[in-house]
Amino acid sequence: MSQPPNDVGIDDVAVHFPRLYLSTTGQFAAARGLEPAKLVRGIGVEQMAVPDRHEDAATMAANALLELMQRNRLGPGDIGRIYIGTESSVDEAKAMGTYVIGMLERIYGRGSFSECSTVELKSACIAASYALENVSLWAGNKEGNIGVVIATDIARYSLNSPGEYTQGAGAVALLVKRQPRMISLDQEAGFFTRDENDFFRPLGMKTAVVNGKHSNQCYLDAVEGAFASYCRSARGGPICPPHGSAVTDAFDHILMHIPYPRMVEYAAASLFCQEWQGLDRWNSVEAQIGPLPRPGDFPGPAEYQEASSQYQRRFARTPEFIRAFSAKVEPSTLLSRRIGNIYTGSLYLGLASLAESGHLLAGQRCAFLSYGSGCSAMVFSGRVSRQIGDVPLRGLLKRLQERSELSLTDYELLHEGARSESAIPPSGEFALLGEDEQGYRHYDWAK
Ligand code: HMG
Repeated sequence: MSQPPNDVGIDDVAVHFPRLYLSTTGQFAAARGLEPAKLVRGIGVEQMAVPDRHEDAATMAANALLELMQRNRLGPGDIGRIYIGTESSVDEAKAMGTYVIGMLERIYGRGSFSECSTVELKSACIAASYALENVSLWAGNKEGNIGVVIATDIARYSLNSPGEYTQGAGAVALLVKRQPRMISLDQEAGFFTRDENDFFRPLGMKTAVVNGKHSNQCYLDAVEGAFASYCRSARGGPICPPHGSAVTDAFDHILMHIPYPRMVEYAAASLFCQEWQGLDRWNSVEAQIGPLPRPGDFPGPAEYQEASSQYQRRFARTPEFIRAFSAKVEPSTLLSRRIGNIYTGSLYLGLASLAESGHLLAGQRCAFLSYGSGCSAMVFSGRVSRQIGDVPLRGLLKRLQERSELSLTDYELLHEGARSESAIPPSGEFALLGEDEQGYRHYDWAK
């Protein structure tokens, strides 16, 4: 990340998710004619968060921001920037942050955020990472500059489509400041961008158009490109792998965008496969699964790509891969397995997974691999701060247990916007009351 040479980064994280969820393995799997094992193992999702009638991306953002402020005893005057990454916009012109500030001012008083600037960034699932780059540059400039990045989204695909079991909803709010207690960001970053039709949502559509298998390949290509770009930027900087080791060896945690946890396994296989070439450990891998396919051995690019992905599936079953994956990557998928895809927040849900399960230890190095369809990827890195132990836990695992399971019928009604009332009346949260005749949205704090 192109940072000034100050110690700046993520000081705290607050997570908000709906109280309703759908289990993928019960009625849902039966109704869709799917084996539960496919969803739990083949996709990696056991439960998906489902927004109630009174929830949208703005209420989730406001709820996450309120929690972040209360956890850190911050007042509105302390926060100079609220940048929101989302592709679940509630208006074509008005910035979501103005609705969010309107909600927060119901608690803190009208006008209390008047000196705070807010902007909404859209770039599919990578938007919050671009927001983080921006806000951390500003926060690094001056002592006392405190900003918030909020990633908020509802991942919604058509009923009965293959995307349906990769839905989810939630918001993550990141507190960004100097001398952060969680992650100090490095200055280095790598980028990759290409025009793609892997996943998009034309104006007016409520569900995304997705070319599923193609989207997986775009993710892999973009992350590979951004990782190579990161390596060029980081060489001689914070990451200097000694002879015989790989850049990924330098990281204790490799966090990735998590559209569904199995995607992270595909991406890790692709990354390690590429990175381990020529190292001693690769001899042992080759002895088990044979040499890497070469493009010249196949009649065309499609055949070569198919052979490469089959090879990576075999690589993912080697003890060398399983060891590296379980240590560096898998722990960050904990919450996504029970919340689903929250689009731009999912990378940061991975950070919350590590924090809540006690995996983040002072001095460890983290790589962040962010991806957004369309498509763009960014790779950046950071170090876990010495003060990590001062950041209180959030009780997220307990909150997951306290959610209510939806029946398939109620889930489908909510999905289609066909419920006239909330499944659970809002309480202790911001809620959408409705839209007026002009289309302006009205929100309130529900006691
Ligand atoms: P699918 O048709 O379910 O895929 O679509 P599949 O049939 O290949 O099954 C997936 C895996 O389950 C396979 O594993 C099967 O073998 C396995 P593999 O062969 O690849 O190793 N499987 C089983 N495993 C265990 N037990 C069984 C069993 N049966 C099968 N009984 C797809 C999957 C992800 C394509 C679909 O759900 C989809 O289109 N999702 C939405 C798009 C998406 O998430 N794409 C990810 C990359 S793009 C991205 O990340 C950006 C995004 O977040 C948006 C943004 O940027 O804003 C989406």
